[in-house]
Amino acid sequence: MSQKIAVVTGGNKGIGFAIVKALCKELQNGIVYLTSRNEERGKAAVEELKKEGLDPHFHQLDIDSSESIDRLRDFLKSTHGGLDILVNNAAIAYNYKKNDTTPFSVQAKISIETNYTGTLNVCHALFPLIRSHGRVCHLTSMLGALMYKKLSPKLQQAFKQAKTEEDVNKLMADFVTSAEWGTIKEEGWVAGYCTPNGEFISSAEKGTLEEGYAGSAYCTSKAGVITITRIQAAAMSADTSRQDILINCCCPGYVDTDMTSHKGTKTPDEGAITPVYCALFPSAGPNGKHLSNKSVVETW
Ligand SMILES: NC(=O)c1ccc[n+]([C@@H]2O[C@H](COP(=O)([O-])OP(=O)(O)OC[C@H]3O[C@@H](n4cnc5c(N)ncnc54)[C@H](OP(=O)(O)O)[C@@H]3O)[C@@H](O)[C@H]2O)c1
Repeated sequence: MSQKIAVVTGGNKGIGFAIVKALCKELQNGIVYLTSRNEERGKAAVEELKKEGLDPHFHQLDIDSSESIDRLRDFLKSTHGGLDILVNNAAIAYNYKKNDTTPFSVQAKISIETNYTGTLNVCHALFPLIRSHGRVCHLTSMLGALMYKKLSPKLQQAFKQAKTEEDVNKLMADFVTSAEWGTIKEEGWVAGYCTPNGEFISSAEKGTLEEGYAGSAYCTSKAGVITITRIQAAAMSADTSRQDILINCCCPGYVDTDMTSHKGTKTPDEGAITPVYCALFPSAGPNGKHLSNKSVVETW
């Protein structure tokens, strides 16, 4: 069996770290790259896994930097000639923190730039390297699906009918512009914070909220990633030069990490179960789908 090469983004902590750990254990004859935007944190994470007898490799990757993405692409190409598994885990979230005064327009811009555009840029650079039987998994969130239900009917249709990457880019750009102009509600988007139960509470009420609620800018960015997954899978399937490549996205569940201010109920290892399942599908599996708890969820 030929050696499999896997890359996990944002692998230095949280669910990404647990995904690297699980892949190191489960991938037969493979090399797992733990990538991290911060070299020191990434190398420390690699050392931690080495103490457990595992052997991840390190490579720097900041998904906000095209130079960093290109460096990883060039390294993978020259060292391995391709890539077999890509787990796009890296993301940020503006969670409610007492006294956080980050304006919503900034939350919108930064969340879309990293979680949607950064992830897409990694795909643009690394998809050409993915070999036949490759597997891609983007980490998303059921909060993206919950937020979708609160959008105006017109926006819901736009997400549902998006057929090209440009369609989704435009939706994401429209959201950022609406946040800048203060027209979020008029344009049919959602502002505020999502509780772990999926209720959205307006920013004005946030003084009464508990720490750890995700901002709707985060939810919108994840709705973009869920939508782009379907489009990417269709495009990859149309590429006859490569066979059996599956591109899916999944929600890890509500996980005890820095992102949730440690309010999540699953451990990071439990959160890694569905992403790793998607990353290791055998010859048949869903394609272009959104999964939760190892099952496909019909999102929209
Ligand atoms: N935790 C949950 O309950 C939950 C639920 C649904 C979905 N998710 C998704 O699961 C994934 C992992 O979340 P988590 O809870 O493990 O979050 P986390 O503990 O905050 O870890 C996020 C990781 O992403 C990295 N990252 C952020 N921006 C980056 C960038 N520009 N380039 C490279 N790496 C970057 C972080 O690096 P630094 O250490 O350098 O900041 C960190 O390694 C995310 O996609 C998240 O949206 C989580």
